Amino acid sequence: MKRTTTRKGNKARGPLLRRRVPASPCPLFPEIERILVTEPQIARRVRWLTRQLARDFAGRDLVVVSLLNGTVMFLADLVRHLSLPLRLDFIGVSSYGAETRSGDLVFTKQLRLDVRGRDVLVVDDILDTGRTLKRVLAVLREHKPRRVRVCVLLEKKARRVENVRADYVGFQIPDLFVVGYGLDYAERYRNLPFVGVLRPEAYGA
Ligand code: PRP
Repeated sequence: MKRTTTRKGNKARGPLLRRRVPASPCPLFPEIERILVTEPQIARRVRWLTRQLARDFAGRDLVVVSLLNGTVMFLADLVRHLSLPLRLDFIGVSSYGAETRSGDLVFTKQLRLDVRGRDVLVVDDILDTGRTLKRVLAVLREHKPRRVRVCVLLEKKARRVENVRADYVGFQIPDLFVVGYGLDYAERYRNLPFVGVLRPEAYGA
């Protein structure tokens, strides 16, 4: 049957909204302004990264060293798709002080596994100023690994103050305050499944 739309028909179905009102990306957290990297984008990119890593570390004695706490989501997704034998260890490192800017670094957990002569892949959620990675790489090198490579989900080039680089990068992002998928503001938002932009009002900017 041919379907026709009459005025009467439209009325019966309710008013026609011509302008789409953007839905809040995260109704529970209206302070999230928008989603910067979606779940499917993350999933695709993580798969892509694991293919590079599987190729580059094939046959190596690999230790993945993850930096706590922000890597929790990224690390879990990365290693579960990484078809390589590996060992997993963690370094706890946090910047205290200013909440939105990298402050002084405090080590909360030291490396436990012996990485001497082994390949190390450092996994972090974001490379920002580079202060964290610079310190961590210096600590790791004291343990005499065979080689160290760095994999980050996000890279913000705009705020780099240290000369460090990541070998594997998920996404280059602009200088925005991002949370979710492990990244926090004052320890919140880590459980969001996407990377979102926090409204400046939320962190008092
Ligand atoms: C964040 C993030 C990186 C670091 C990057 O950690 O997880 O490790 O900052 O910043 P940088 O390049 O300016 O040093 P944070 O100290 O906030 O701890 P967290 O992982 O527990 O959130």
